[in-house]
Amino acid sequence: MMLKLPKDFIMGGASAAYQVEGATKEDGKGKVLWDDYLEKQGRFSPDPAADFYHKYDEDLALSEKYGVQAIRVSIAWSRIFPNGTTDKLEPRGVEYYHKLFASCKKHHIIPFVTLHHFDTPLKLHEIGDWLSPVMLDSFVDYAKYCFKEFPEVKYWITINEPTSMAIQQHVSGTFPPGEKDRFDKAFQAEHNQNVAHARIVNAYKNMNLGGQIGVVHALQTVYPFSDSPADKHAAKLQDAFENRLYLDGTLAGKYSSETISLVKEILDANNQPMFKSTEEEMKELDKAAHQLDFVGVNNYFSKWIKAYDGDSETVHNGTGAKGTSVSRLHGIGEERKPDGIETTDWDWSIYPKGMHDILMRIHDEYPLVPATYVTENGIGLKESLPSNATDDTIIDDPKRIDYLRKYFAAIIDAINDGANVKGYFIWSLQDQFSWTNGYSKRYGLFFVDFPTQKRYVKKSAYWFKKLSETHELED
Ligand code: BG6
Repeated sequence: MMLKLPKDFIMGGASAAYQVEGATKEDGKGKVLWDDYLEKQGRFSPDPAADFYHKYDEDLALSEKYGVQAIRVSIAWSRIFPNGTTDKLEPRGVEYYHKLFASCKKHHIIPFVTLHHFDTPLKLHEIGDWLSPVMLDSFVDYAKYCFKEFPEVKYWITINEPTSMAIQQHVSGTFPPGEKDRFDKAFQAEHNQNVAHARIVNAYKNMNLGGQIGVVHALQTVYPFSDSPADKHAAKLQDAFENRLYLDGTLAGKYSSETISLVKEILDANNQPMFKSTEEEMKELDKAAHQLDFVGVNNYFSKWIKAYDGDSETVHNGTGAKGTSVSRLHGIGEERKPDGIETTDWDWSIYPKGMHDILMRIHDEYPLVPATYVTENGIGLKESLPSNATDDTIIDDPKRIDYLRKYFAAIIDAINDGANVKGYFIWSLQDQFSWTNGYSKRYGLFFVDFPTQKRYVKKSAYWFKKLSETHELED
């Protein structure tokens, strides 16, 4: 059976500045939280990544050729303001993004631009990152500067995945500063990001620039491992921990009493204090939720949660050794996949129904949201260049095509069920560096040979082009 995407559905590719640009020490760029941290770890370097700083025009030309109509890029805050604060401006950074957006125009590609994608300037990270009021004020100043400086951008994204950042910084410890089990800090950082997001949306709307503004969330659909009341409650707690605080905060403009009581239950179980919010902040959240233009959904996998009352224990699979990840959170629950759920080498479940269910949840539970984009989805695979490769070698990636076909079918189902999904951005446009997995987890439509940064096309790019041109998904 032939499934169809709406006529005006946008087909895009996604990236993030730190994961593609490289050039971390070029043209006056300030340090970010990752630079020294990665150097100390010694596992991999963010340079030269995909060398997008120099190769953007080549990637945009390829994108145009393979049916990519829009790209998600982020601005590296510390290229513009090396210290994060507006006291020092770096004109070479500003110039770079003007050139990037001009190249988008030349190649008929719409830029969707994220202001913060996990790359807090080091100086602001050192004083508390999202827990510091100075960070919030500086972020608003930087955002307003970008709105004025880059009128060519018509789609803005405030923050990429507030919760991933908060959880990985303070609970699982996989992002700098690498803290574990500080649920209180994670919730406070999430609330603070909701506030920063709201201030920026409200400022943008006051400036009347005629574009659109949204936020991007990591949304894992959470299911109970079994029908037992204990597992069902554990799944609710996990959902509150990962999804609800920022869904409520950014899409409804208020925290429901159920969300608050679930968050409190998690914190009480861990003997940690509730996050603080003020009446003024809640008014800002409410105002922003009523002016938001779209939400971006990043969905790759789903989770199943089982009741658990032991100590917290998390192990990150950062190498692609299947079956090595562990997540057991005290006061929440344990991740456990039911039999028969397919997974990637990094233990991410392949479960397209989760995409359908999360899109429907936004439609059903957050009626203020005018439009949804899938802003990230894709599969990380171990891929290599054949030793006899020539310039025309095409990388065969049948697993990616199969994954995409299934997830697109789920998106079309959701659209047919009433979800207003306006576009899709594959993660990722080109192979890039992954924060906690380095270079071996490849997601791109375009293969990057990391020692040389030369591009090769994957078969999935041909598949993507066809879908982009016909909007028809073959079974
Ligand atoms: C999203 C992020 O969470 O997932 C990206 O926005 C990230 O920056 C992507 O790279 C895939 O995750 P990972 O850990 O496989 O790189």
